[in-house]
Amino acid sequence: MAKPIKKALGIDIGGSGVKGAPVHLKRGELLAERFRIPTPRPATPKAVANTVAEIAKHFRWKGPIGCTVPGLVRDGVVEMASNLDPTWNGTHVARLIKKKTGCKVAVMNDADAAGLAEMKYGAGKGKKGVVLLLTFGTGIGSALFLDGRLLPNTEFGHLQIGGQLAEDIAAHSVRETQDLEWDAWARGRVQEVIDHIEFLFSPDLIIIGGGASRPDRWAEFGHLLHTRAKLVPAALGNNAGIVGAGIVARAQIPRKRKRGKKWLTNQPSSSLTGTTELFEGEDDGKAEGFSATS
Ligand code: BGC
Repeated sequence: MAKPIKKALGIDIGGSGVKGAPVHLKRGELLAERFRIPTPRPATPKAVANTVAEIAKHFRWKGPIGCTVPGLVRDGVVEMASNLDPTWNGTHVARLIKKKTGCKVAVMNDADAAGLAEMKYGAGKGKKGVVLLLTFGTGIGSALFLDGRLLPNTEFGHLQIGGQLAEDIAAHSVRETQDLEWDAWARGRVQEVIDHIEFLFSPDLIIIGGGASRPDRWAEFGHLLHTRAKLVPAALGNNAGIVGAGIVARAQIPRKRKRGKKWLTNQPSSSLTGTTELFEGEDDGKAEGFSATS
């Protein structure tokens, strides 16, 4: 049986920057200082894939790559990425990045990946029950776990609240572009979004991630929020996406190839977890499932 990979290049594709670093998958730590390139404009799949290739080149990386995308990802295909470019819809991003880098590539939604990282190494470590990660950055991302297992692609940032998308009301980018005071943003907007989601899912723990979870920012607004669930900031901060991307690579990319058998993942083909192109060909590998507790 193939053993899981030990290191992967984790790349977090965001609305404003594409950042990456090699990740040690046992410790969940970055093995080098992360390298960031501003997201190209327009952020077409090809332009972003070239940026990913530049990051791989920066680290002289030839091994597996895990990549996060701020959009709905299923079986390596992006179905919607509203903060990037409309041309992403329907793009087989794993295949595209594999072509540009020559590396095996696994992809997943950015918040789901950050959630996996927090559940495995950070604020959600060992937490049972319903755990919700909400990221406040360019948009609002979400990752929902039950007893450490991910329900992928929840996209709570796209919930309609009072006729508006949750992320158009309360993303951290909205606070910046509208120059809102912390109080007005947190009490007036973030609270409304969290109330709505809490009413629907009654999580036991809510982890706030994304750019807004930076310690200096959290200090401004964390205490202004009131929740029934325990509320904490992400422990891995802005590196959660990169570390999570590494976990995704580990889960989807087997380390060794043997002849004669189909490549396997332990994800059912119907899962929403974004099993990718890299599973073309043959392998004996059994990859891990998307459980933060495995
Ligand atoms: C996207 C999500 C993503 C979130 C945070 C939203 O606009 O639809 O997929 O997780 O932004 O980047």
